[in-house]
Amino acid sequence: MTRPSTTTLIAALSVLIVGAGLTAQSHDRFTVISPNGISFGEFKGYDAWQVISASLPGDGIKVVVGNPLMIKTYAGGFPANGQAVPEGAVMAKLIWSVKDNPSLPGGAKVTDTLKRVQFMVKDAKRFPDTDGWGYADFAYDTPSGTFTGVGNGAAFAKAACHQCHIRAKARDYVFSAFALR
Ligand code: HEC
Repeated sequence: MTRPSTTTLIAALSVLIVGAGLTAQSHDRFTVISPNGISFGEFKGYDAWQVISASLPGDGIKVVVGNPLMIKTYAGGFPANGQAVPEGAVMAKLIWSVKDNPSLPGGAKVTDTLKRVQFMVKDAKRFPDTDGWGYADFAYDTPSGTFTGVGNGAAFAKAACHQCHIRAKARDYVFSAFALR
């Protein structure tokens, strides 16, 4: 039997180590929990959801995406049809800072670092205090590559999120319209 060379062993080990690192990173994100008990893991797959709209708060860029049920809800005429968003629909708002395009200085600004991923999930039984919507806010820390659940106490969402979304009560507390493409 020929023995594997040291180089072969080192190469094999590096593959194992890099693989373990990637697994640990994605695993960590989905075990993070918001103070109101909503787990990031409930939204697995959000990074592939369809775009609903985008907004420019001035110091960054926000993109709103929705799960397939939410996209179907818009296709069915929401919010003009005046109907409530169905149970299980979810939207995420992805928030980045912006920077000058390194390849075209003076051109349009482009996304820089990821700042936050926020969610709204419709579940009337679980979130009666906020008119059926569950809110979660996860802050991203670039140096450590980790997310943290943001919010002061288990009932944070009523004051920190829903109090403002109440302004969109006539459209089931959803601000965003589906942008034509
Ligand atoms: C001061 C008002 C205000 C507060 C507070 C607020 N939002 Fe929003 N939110 C908005 C507006 C306006 C939009 C529409 C998109 C935009 O302007 O970026 C929005 C959009 C969203 C969306 C996309 C769905 C929609 O309604 O368009 C999600 C998800 C969301 N917010 C989550 C949250 C969470 C989670 C919190 C609390 C941590 C929160 N929001 C607090 C005003 C607010």
